[in-house]
Amino acid sequence: MSAPAPTVPPPVPIPETFFGRQSEGRAVILSARAGRSVVLVAPTGYGKSALLRELAPALEQLAATVTVPKVAPFGTFLVDLAEQLAAVPDFRLPESKHPDKKPLDAWKSAHKGTDARARSLVAALREYTQGGTAAPVVLVDDCTGITQSMVPHMLALAEVCSLVVAVQPDTMRKAGLSRFWGKCDRVDLNPLDRAEARELVDALTVKYNIVAEDMGAYKNRVLSLAEGIPGEAERLVRYVSTHDLVKPSDIGSSFAQQAAQREERGIALAPVLLVLSGVAMITKYVGLARGEMDMYLMGGVGIAVSMVALPFLRKLVMVR
Ligand SMILES: Nc1ncnc2c1ncn2[C@@H]1O[C@H](COP(=O)(O)OP(=O)(O)OP(=O)(O)O)[C@@H](O)[C@H]1O
Ligand SMILES: [Mg+2]
Repeated sequence: MSAPAPTVPPPVPIPETFFGRQSEGRAVILSARAGRSVVLVAPTGYGKSALLRELAPALEQLAATVTVPKVAPFGTFLVDLAEQLAAVPDFRLPESKHPDKKPLDAWKSAHKGTDARARSLVAALREYTQGGTAAPVVLVDDCTGITQSMVPHMLALAEVCSLVVAVQPDTMRKAGLSRFWGKCDRVDLNPLDRAEARELVDALTVKYNIVAEDMGAYKNRVLSLAEGIPGEAERLVRYVSTHDLVKPSDIGSSFAQQAAQREERGIALAPVLLVLSGVAMITKYVGLARGEMDMYLMGGVGIAVSMVALPFLRKLVMVR
């Protein structure tokens, strides 16, 4: 008798952890597909690195894609880039005067100084693409440290690969970089919209096992404090205790409870206002009958006040 076939466990659904950014992602991919470089601009915590991570598999379908953490110091950037490129099939780091050494070490020994290293990498990338191979995509997770002296090398690299670099807005205003930015398509990241931010906060509360007395009030508080900035939402959920975020006065302030409270207040107020406007009307007519001007005026004012208060009462009880 043959052994029973091993039961294959059902695939575990991977929970969604990245939200929004469809149009920005599409823009990056379109530019990279056209072989152009891209600058991704947003303040800290807006999700530049997260978007690059998210896009890497799709970019990989277009061309060999490598990620380098930082552009500065430039010497380290070049070594990181060489190391990443060395792992790309068919890419050859130039110079093998030292066949006994590993390609990266041989390249470092043969090219001293940033100028020589930058030029040799540009040459190697050119050679790699000569056979018709798509130019690699180089993701630079943090390009905030870019300086004027790097620009000629970055421009040369942009000729032989698609650079996708992330910067904070201040970097765009640094002097001497405009020639490089002119070569890049610019993609700005804004805060997530309300629905995306809500999805993110829902996912974060699950990820970090958040238990709050009133989850509705807690999530609303995180949403309003984070203002659509994903890094801020993550910081609040991860590091700030639920007690510090939700004051006792906020508990029970989620929508349904607020609506119920408003309705209760409104219903309680209705008869009071009705009686007051009746009294005002009687006062007015008694004043008129007796010829007492003060009484007549008081009644009139009372009616006017109740007429103004009634629409407010309606608003108070209306469930939006
Ligand atoms: N669209 C998103 N969906 C879900 N999580 C996100 C999203 N964008 C960012 N995050 C999360 O927010 C946090 C901050 O994002 P990230 O580090 O990418 O910001 P950044 O713009 O690169 O900031 P910095 O300029 O400081 O490098 C990360 O934990 C990241 O996973
Ligand atoms: Mg980042």
